[in-house]
Amino acid sequence: MHIDKIKLLNFRNYINQEIELDKNINIFYGNNAQGKTNIIESIYLCSIGKSYRTSKDKEAINLEKDFSTVEIEYSKKDREGKIKLELSNKKTILVNDIKAKKMSEVLGNINIVLFTPDDITIFKDGPQKRRKILDIMISQLRPAYVHNLNTYLKVIDQRNNYLKQIKFENKSEEMLEIWEAKLADYAEIIYEYRKEFVEKIKAKIKEIHKKITNNKEKIDIEYISDFKNKEDFKKVLEEHRKLDIIKGFTTKGIHRDDLKIYIEDKEIEKYGSQGQHRSAILSIKLSELEIVKEEIEEKPILLLDDFMSELDKERRESFLEDVKDTQIIITCTDELELENEKKKIFYVENRKSAR
Ligand SMILES: Nc1ncnc2c1ncn2[C@@H]1O[C@H](COP(=O)(O)OP(=O)(O)OP(=O)(O)O)[C@@H](O)[C@H]1O
Ligand SMILES: [Mg+2]
Repeated sequence: MHIDKIKLLNFRNYINQEIELDKNINIFYGNNAQGKTNIIESIYLCSIGKSYRTSKDKEAINLEKDFSTVEIEYSKKDREGKIKLELSNKKTILVNDIKAKKMSEVLGNINIVLFTPDDITIFKDGPQKRRKILDIMISQLRPAYVHNLNTYLKVIDQRNNYLKQIKFENKSEEMLEIWEAKLADYAEIIYEYRKEFVEKIKAKIKEIHKKITNNKEKIDIEYISDFKNKEDFKKVLEEHRKLDIIKGFTTKGIHRDDLKIYIEDKEIEKYGSQGQHRSAILSIKLSELEIVKEEIEEKPILLLDDFMSELDKERRESFLEDVKDTQIIITCTDELELENEKKKIFYVENRKSAR
């Protein structure tokens, strides 16, 4: 699939901008703080329905304006479509000019795989970012997943509030059972989805990683969860009630899930070198690309924010060879040397006169 056109109105530093993309490689280059990542963000927003940079959508509205719109026209093998996102005091999404009732309706239209500079530290930081990679991947392919995950997280909030009420207002512990039963139901659904997708990654990543590292390294991925089955999970929650009341939050559950990567049977977070972190994340993302491709039966769009600079020339070329016939949107600070590639180049400069 590919994006044909992006229209930005009052979006971050863009007041009124139309961008026509090439079906193959699109390079946005320019100095720092010119608006390159803002383009990637606008695509992400129309694909996922929320930003990966901020939880406050309003921050994306140009500081001198009070509303913003992003409109993207795309083509898939069997249809064309349009996603329009309007930001003001509230957020509205229009899918082919029809207002979406739920934000999740946007999912599955524009399929993307995103690489950001932040991804490089994903195995050094806490598990939250690792869960997010998995959650975003699953959401795009199984929009129903989002509803289950959001409901689970809402019930966790309710249980956490009640834990505090038990501690400070002497409320009865018995009430916890209601939330715990509900949590177990949703946890099971989410666990099954996550397990399925980690298995899918597992099936792809070994070969991909071998190729990336010239057969030098072995990789493995493992899904870590407190959940095993519904009955066991209910028991775990019950057993941890006392501790949870003291702490004031739910210490066990799929909101604590994690992914572990092993390189040559050693945990990457403990023993991995910088380069190994980089190749591992590349392998995960390329596995994601393959999984999405198989599911939607066409290639998703690749968004590479500042990522090419992470790779040396040789790896860059072999990477581009791997993702041939994919629409790629690249940002970088220097004009990339990409010989023999069909590409469209955009120079990005934040002209004050555009305001
Ligand atoms: N809401 C907003 N209103 C106006 N300008 C904004 C807004 N949000 C961000 N900007 C501006 O956008 C610019 C940053 O854009 P962006 O993050 O896309 O830069 P970049 O070109 O990717 O830079 P780098 O190479 O450093 O990553 C900054 O000049 C910032 O002031
Ligand atoms: Mg940037």
